[in-house]
Amino acid sequence: MERVIPTSSRLVVGGTHRVPGDKSITHRALLFGALARGTSMIGGALPSLDARSTARVLRALGADISPLRPDATVRVVGDRRLKATATTLHCGNSGTTVRLLLGLLAAHRFSTRLTGDSSLRRRPMRRVTGPLMAMGAKVAESATDGLPLTIIGGRLRSIDWQMPVPSAQIKSAVLLAGMAGEVPVSLREPAASRDHTERMLRHFGYDVRATPGRVDFEPTGRLEPFEMQVPGDPSSAAFLLAATLLADSGEVRLSGVGCNASRLGFLEVLRRMGGTVAVEGVESPFGEPIGTLTTSAASLRAVAVTPDEVPAMIDEIPILACLAARAEGVSTFRGLAELRVKESDRLALLAENLRKVGVEAEAQGDDLHVTGTDAPLRGRVRTAGDHRIAMAFTVLGQGRGSRITVDDPECAAVSFPGFRETLAGLRVRGGR
Ligand code: S3P
Repeated sequence: MERVIPTSSRLVVGGTHRVPGDKSITHRALLFGALARGTSMIGGALPSLDARSTARVLRALGADISPLRPDATVRVVGDRRLKATATTLHCGNSGTTVRLLLGLLAAHRFSTRLTGDSSLRRRPMRRVTGPLMAMGAKVAESATDGLPLTIIGGRLRSIDWQMPVPSAQIKSAVLLAGMAGEVPVSLREPAASRDHTERMLRHFGYDVRATPGRVDFEPTGRLEPFEMQVPGDPSSAAFLLAATLLADSGEVRLSGVGCNASRLGFLEVLRRMGGTVAVEGVESPFGEPIGTLTTSAASLRAVAVTPDEVPAMIDEIPILACLAARAEGVSTFRGLAELRVKESDRLALLAENLRKVGVEAEAQGDDLHVTGTDAPLRGRVRTAGDHRIAMAFTVLGQGRGSRITVDDPECAAVSFPGFRETLAGLRVRGGR
């Protein structure tokens, strides 16, 4: 695809930038801190709405957690057990908050009522309450598969559970129930999902064995107060890498980004699309690899993503689909059923919004087809409050001549506070 660009309106990017802390690791650090007797210190914790939801509900359950603010080290004073609360815990938009917390609450002998915003109330919970009930917890189910629901914890028994879908949230809920209830658990997973919980459990001396398709946990460890530094979120980095690839020229470095392989599947797709992404200086000071990602503007070609690849890039499909809109040829993403039960029905919303801004796109069954174009893209995107849809289309709208508006740009703060400012900061000169 030939790009003829008037020099006056070239988008040039550059510099070294940082992304906010990893959302998955921040949730887990807060949960572990709340169950370790004493004071834990969490540097680089993500001060986003989702992470604040976890802090808020843990405070209601007895933990003392300092405010989550940009650049502030978060202090968590925990105890070995959570305390009962009569208030309904509001988990906001955060699926990770409610699902991981359900795992911990399953092992506590009191009842807790949980709810969330309209998006979270619609998301499936039986995939998590199912195994927890098999372990001995009781759940007063809502009429639907969603929230609100009440969990009544108690003495748990060991399980060996076949997960219906690859999901770090299901896996983590069961592992945390095993930890808090001091019982062994085994999980079989159709494909590997992110492994942050397993890494943290090992850090505290728990025996967690991972073999392809299987995780076995033994309650051999003990939580102790800890100090850690949360790496930058690779899922947030993906938006900045994409913005760089779509620029007319320039090179951008993102330092301090989490480089856990279970999160970096999207880099392989970017490379297949013709992007060059270097991963350098990787160190693992807190059990999680951290490094610098560097990429530069590129001409992209279409890509075919297969179902087995999706779990390692589950949160990056929206931005990859938007990149496909600017790649030469027809891209196909197969096996996206799980996208239908994220913060929105991402599969339907991606196809709908791509078409709205002038891109040929179709959701067929669980697959998404996107035909790349270099025409200016214009239109108003419906986010349904979904942060990743908002950010993906904001990046896509950056191109020359494009004018994409997003109905709720503020929802980016669910995972990436300061997204617009950080994105604007990539630009070194030029403009429209
Ligand atoms: C998460 C796991 C993923 C991901 C979500 C965060 C986690 O969900 O989409 O944003 O922190 O465990 P599933 O593993 O349930 O697909």
